[in-house]
Amino acid sequence: MAWSRLIFSLLVSVSIVCAVSKGASSNVKSVQVVAEAAIASPFTPNGIKAGISAGNAYYVVKDHIGWWYDCKTNPGKPIAVPMLWGAGKADSGDAKRLADFKSKVANSTPPYFLGFEEPDCKSGSGSAGMTMDDAVDLWNNWVAPMGKRGTLLGSPSMCKQADEDWLTPFGQRTNFNWNFTNIHINKNSMAGVKKDIDYYYKKYQKPIWVSEFACVNDYWQFTPSSNQTEINIFINQIVDLFEADSRIYAYAYSNGYGLGNVWPMWKNGTLSESGRTYLNAISNTPEAHHHVEPTSNVESGGVYRSLSFYWSPTIRL
Ligand SMILES: *[C@@H]1O[C@H](CO)[C@@H](O)[C@H](O)[C@H]1NC(C)=O
Ligand SMILES: *[C@@H]1O[C@H](CO)[C@@H](O)[C@H](O)[C@H]1NC(C)=O
Ligand SMILES: *[C@@H]1O[C@H](CO)[C@@H](O)[C@H](O)[C@H]1NC(C)=O
Repeated sequence: MAWSRLIFSLLVSVSIVCAVSKGASSNVKSVQVVAEAAIASPFTPNGIKAGISAGNAYYVVKDHIGWWYDCKTNPGKPIAVPMLWGAGKADSGDAKRLADFKSKVANSTPPYFLGFEEPDCKSGSGSAGMTMDDAVDLWNNWVAPMGKRGTLLGSPSMCKQADEDWLTPFGQRTNFNWNFTNIHINKNSMAGVKKDIDYYYKKYQKPIWVSEFACVNDYWQFTPSSNQTEINIFINQIVDLFEADSRIYAYAYSNGYGLGNVWPMWKNGTLSESGRTYLNAISNTPEAHHHVEPTSNVESGGVYRSLSFYWSPTIRL
């Protein structure tokens, strides 16, 4: 983790995953896990760790995931986890998300909520790039009250992965009052993946959600893999690792710009080979023999589940 490497990765290692999210609107339904084998922890949504971040694959994989999100404040689909992306200053989409959060979500009590998208890197390429003051102010005045009412709060995610130097000063000004540490992993080996998990678990000692992961060579540069064989092996290994690691309560496959042509789950109107590999891997997990069924029950009572609206799916988040 040479400093030079860090500088370089600041230029290129931005998270791009919240870049695209399309999808037709759907009926708003809640979900119920139908199975005894589901993971019982309240930190694992619907009893299934596996999820996806953004992208068009939602309708194809929805029966095999416990959760998904697309970086919006108010995603509106079943099992969606809302998120406050940034301080409203990065671009017009960011401003709209902040306004929607304040008017439509901040007074609700969703089961889970994800904090800011990579505030530790410059905005403009998929990271929120927030000042510490803005982040602390929004958290303490708007996000923490949701936590006090019972929402499980995910920390802001860090662009710099295990090289981050942002979350501790943020925690000192917010009483470390997130419930689970929300991390991004862009690596191409299980040794690298474990290093990131070990870092966050030792440092913050909280349950972990991996809200973005992708097969990326992040050594010196940020180079997404374009080798389908390597990607398939990586997907199978990382799903096994996440399932077996009791520190991990949820994980989500990244979809979006900047991850090359082979990694994204959706291609040309259908699941890509990478998407099929992920679907197959998560269909074989210990908890996968049960299924999630839409029901008319309202699971959370959270206001956000009854709202369904979208802005342009082509907006770069
Ligand atoms: C979530 O964090 C808040 C604030 O730190 C805490 O009061 C609450 O007990 C936590 N909830 C769980 C389930 O750990
Ligand atoms: C692709 O990845 C596989 C598995 O790591 C490796 O054996 C193979 O040599 C790679 N192919 C290329 C062209 O690098
Ligand atoms: C995309 O799908 C269409 C229709 O199924 C097919 O004709 C076309 O060849 C596909 N393109 C690629 C790049 O796979």
